[in-house]
Amino acid sequence: HAADAHRTDLMTITRFVLNEQSKYPESRGDFTILLNHIVLGCKFVCSAVNKAGLAKLIGLAGETNVQGEEQKKLDVLSNEVFVKALVSSGRTCILVSEEDEEATFVDPSKRGRYCVVFDPLDGSSNIDCGVSIGTIFGIYMMKDNHEPTLDDVLQPGKQMLAAGYCMYGSSCTLVLSTGEGVNRFTLDPSLGEFILTHPDIKIPKKGKIYSVNEGNAKNWDGPTAKYVEKCKFPKDGSSPKSLRYIGSMVADVHRTLLYGGIFLYPADKKSPSGKLRVLYEVFPMSFLMEQAGGQAFTGKQRALDLVPTKIHERSPIFLGSFDDVEDIKALYAAEG
Ligand code: AHG
Ligand code: MN
Ligand code: MN
Ligand code: MN
Repeated sequence: HAADAHRTDLMTITRFVLNEQSKYPESRGDFTILLNHIVLGCKFVCSAVNKAGLAKLIGLAGETNVQGEEQKKLDVLSNEVFVKALVSSGRTCILVSEEDEEATFVDPSKRGRYCVVFDPLDGSSNIDCGVSIGTIFGIYMMKDNHEPTLDDVLQPGKQMLAAGYCMYGSSCTLVLSTGEGVNRFTLDPSLGEFILTHPDIKIPKKGKIYSVNEGNAKNWDGPTAKYVEKCKFPKDGSSPKSLRYIGSMVADVHRTLLYGGIFLYPADKKSPSGKLRVLYEVFPMSFLMEQAGGQAFTGKQRALDLVPTKIHERSPIFLGSFDDVEDIKALYAAEG
């Protein structure tokens, strides 16, 4: 009756994380409580995205954010939901969101030990046309029990305790790592629970897909241009790679994690630090890629070694299958 057992032995994300956390005798369930509040935010955004077209949630909010981007209604709504859920968890002390210019320092009465960096709605340009979008988050422990300062979030990505994303696509799927591998959960809407569906995901060592916005090719630097040229006109007689680019980082990274290949958002002459934000896009996705056996490179160093100096700092990023990233690292090393 293995199948029956599976049906009644529901491995919800809460139960899964409780199991993992029980390995740490000192853990008092704080992390599980924090994660539950992140999951609550994801469930809310999932439901809002699914009825965006009906609930007049399409279109602009009439504001622009610190990134100079026009905020969509769903950007603002999901940001508010996550900030409120995280503060009410009583387990956070600092929040950094793509949509807020300044970090949020939680009131001492509601303060906990965790710092959460997040992109409440990733892929906003795809909202109105119904293409997959997502939420990305990373979790740090504050450095020590002093008064929280920005230094507690300006930590290299390798200090993250956990990272994950939720993708609002044909199904709502949450991919999470707490430092012991990558696990994928799927929302069962009839239960309102995320159920473990793909334990211990590993990215293929090499892939046949490259993912980049070719529209920026005019401004690429040498190594990136050379790498993309190699993808399209391989010298060793192998077949060219396929190009897949969705324009939502969550969707492009999710496909890369499952199918293998490489995702690139390089620097270019217009944006010398690239476009993607270090704390809540580059670090969480790099953390997941390493945990899945892949790697993540900035063009200069291992992405997770980067020490950010500003909360909305950007970095070029090349991440995905281990061997594919090795290839581009060799080209940057050769350029010296
Ligand atoms: P966001 O919607 O959170 O601002 O992020 C958009 C990002 C990322 O999702 C995606 O990889 C990238 O922008 C696409 O940028 P281009 O349109 O320049 O390719
Ligand atoms: Mn944005
Ligand atoms: Mn984003
Ligand atoms: Mn966003």
